[in-house]
Amino acid sequence: MNAKDPLQQDWIAARGTPLHGVLDVPGDKSVSHRAIMLAALADGTSQIDGFLEGEDTRATAAIFERLGVKIEVPASRTRIVHGVGLDGLSAPHSPLDCGNAGTGMRLLAGLFAAQAFDSVLIGDSSLTRRPMRRVLDPLSRMGAKIAAHDGFPPLRITGGQELQGIVYSSEIASAQVKSAVLLAGLYAKGETRVQEPHPTRDYTERMLQAFGWPVEFSPGLVRLPGGHRLTAAHVSVPADFSSAAFFLVAASLIPESDVTLRRVGMNPRRTGLLRVLREMGAQIEETDAGEEGGEALADLRVRHAPLHGIEIPRDAVPDMIDEFPALFVAAACAKGATVVRGAAELRVKESDRIATMAAGLRALGIEIEEAADGATIHGGTLRGGSLASQGDHRVAMAFAIAGQLAEDEVRIADVANVATSFPAFDSLARKSGFNLRAA
Ligand code: S3P
Repeated sequence: MNAKDPLQQDWIAARGTPLHGVLDVPGDKSVSHRAIMLAALADGTSQIDGFLEGEDTRATAAIFERLGVKIEVPASRTRIVHGVGLDGLSAPHSPLDCGNAGTGMRLLAGLFAAQAFDSVLIGDSSLTRRPMRRVLDPLSRMGAKIAAHDGFPPLRITGGQELQGIVYSSEIASAQVKSAVLLAGLYAKGETRVQEPHPTRDYTERMLQAFGWPVEFSPGLVRLPGGHRLTAAHVSVPADFSSAAFFLVAASLIPESDVTLRRVGMNPRRTGLLRVLREMGAQIEETDAGEEGGEALADLRVRHAPLHGIEIPRDAVPDMIDEFPALFVAAACAKGATVVRGAAELRVKESDRIATMAAGLRALGIEIEEAADGATIHGGTLRGGSLASQGDHRVAMAFAIAGQLAEDEVRIADVANVATSFPAFDSLARKSGFNLRAA
């Protein structure tokens, strides 16, 4: 039932040169997923610029094409989406493949729960191990009928249900859960309200507004009235802070580096790593700050600076949830210990990121103690070695950085999934000075 997993591919990373250059990292993954979804359901034709040409976001676009939405690709990173309106999707005849994308599957569960037709959502082996109860519970309270395997994919969605708006107080800080409920709320009777324990990325809310839905939100709280329609819009996707993060860490660690990352999305719910790296001693300047399509952008100039370990503030954790693999490598090269707590969510990402990073760093000679909700990483000297990325894109890219600092070569197994979020990472990394090659 699962989609075919990518072929095994390994990298060898070794010391390169100081990092230099002005780099453009690809478009934001979260924004790209949402742009396709809302544009598909809008009345009229939308244009998306800066779309992430990654496997995750292309999987989402391919699903809507299967459901009858015409999507043109006039140029790489641009999509023209001919919206079919809220009720214009056609029934699929076979399972819809979300690939590696937790965002794709969880958000689509909310959207498809409200359709007139039945659908089945499948994914790769990593996605099939990711918990879905967090979206199934609130959606079933709204009246959705979704069957899963003990809370895990595939998701079998029975269409034709009448959904009802709810007030949902989510226990976990998750933009995916919030968004699944809001997308179901587009079709629900009455108002849908979501309250979060800590504010998370607000792209769904912002984009709903841009597509003309009168949603009201403040940090940690969203109110979405039922009974409106989406109107086509133009979406400009900023460069993904989570992709820029690898270069922020690498250039901070590698002596004599000086790199500028252009037009990076600076939504405060995404930039926790910036705050944390600065507290560790990093030299990162924001230049040319601006705004596009309601999203804050800046060029980020990062120069090498010695880092020291810190206790990561718990309130920064949700704002840097995807950046922990890179942060663990920064911590391994920092002076002293770095303490991460309150980050149990890392255990249910594309891999168990606490366990995967701990095993990999130990293989490179770093002392690290795992906790249920984090780790204590003792800065030290990275030696060469072999490690497993467990097919986790961000783990693979984090260890590519470790290779630039290690005494000997680092072999990273199973890196093909880097294409899910950052398809040309290896060539951009090499262009900036990395020594990184296919094994
Ligand atoms: C995302 C939310 C986060 C993040 C993921 C993308 C989103 O997940 O880790 O990469 O686009 O909404 P959670 O909602 O599980 O925290």
